[in-house]
Amino acid sequence: MNVCVIIPAAGSASRYLASGATRHKLDEDLAGREVLIRSIELFAKRDEVSSIVVAGPHGDDDHQAFRERYGHKLGFFGVTLCKGGKDYRYESVQAALAEVPEDSTHIAVHDAARPCATSRLIDRVFEAAARFDAVIPAVPVGDTIKRTEEAADAADEDPLDAILGSGGKSNESFSRVSGTLDRTGLVAVQTPQIFKRDLLIRAYSQPDLASTDDAGLVENLGEAVMVVKGERRNIKITTAEDLELARAFFGPVGGSRETHKRF
Ligand code: CTP
Ligand code: MG
Repeated sequence: MNVCVIIPAAGSASRYLASGATRHKLDEDLAGREVLIRSIELFAKRDEVSSIVVAGPHGDDDHQAFRERYGHKLGFFGVTLCKGGKDYRYESVQAALAEVPEDSTHIAVHDAARPCATSRLIDRVFEAAARFDAVIPAVPVGDTIKRTEEAADAADEDPLDAILGSGGKSNESFSRVSGTLDRTGLVAVQTPQIFKRDLLIRAYSQPDLASTDDAGLVENLGEAVMVVKGERRNIKITTAEDLELARAFFGPVGGSRETHKRF
């Protein structure tokens, strides 16, 4: 097995920045290294992995800044850097596919924003890839899932407003429940997702690439996608709260050492 790992890292972290953060989520510190570097490290030392392609920012200035910030570290890991897509993740994966070496037998795709996966999870996914052409990790959905719709007018219906006014409220917006989904068989999908090289290339040759994950494009071909057990800790950092969680998973720097051995 000769795996090329694609790491899409061209997103703009808009939800992260909107949640009160001041820098890009991939640049944040996670136990002494950037989130991006943590994600690369998950694969860099694995025997099955022979190449890593990172899709960085699309815009010229952002790409240059990314190269200046990470270039030497990426060089250290032997990573190839390409320009990602402006708007959609699938554009970034598509751009990275052009850099996949000819001799790769498999292509894995892992979000740069998922630094908390463990090597056990990657073992599981890669081992299953020896038997199946498309493998993804997922966890069962634990929460009840409801569909909601916007309710821009809901705040106006609050009878207390007439007495107290609406100033100082912490809830600025509401949505209204329009239905409850049957949770049976629902799973929340993660990365790394791994595919036989030719299968993923075929999936990305389709005219419509709109999908939030790579397996979706393989499904569109009518090919089977197999699921292995994911990990609760393998979160995708989306908001500032997620970074706090990720830091908790990693523990304090040096936290794995016993206290009396700290110095
Ligand atoms: N991504 C990418 N190219 C894009 C959009 C996203 O490579 N055009 C990457 C992100 O960098 C991230 C992964 O795809 O590693 C998952 O995307 P997401 O978590 O949505 O990150 P962002 O798009 O950066 O965040 P947001 O949607 O909040 O802007
Ligand atoms: Mg996004």
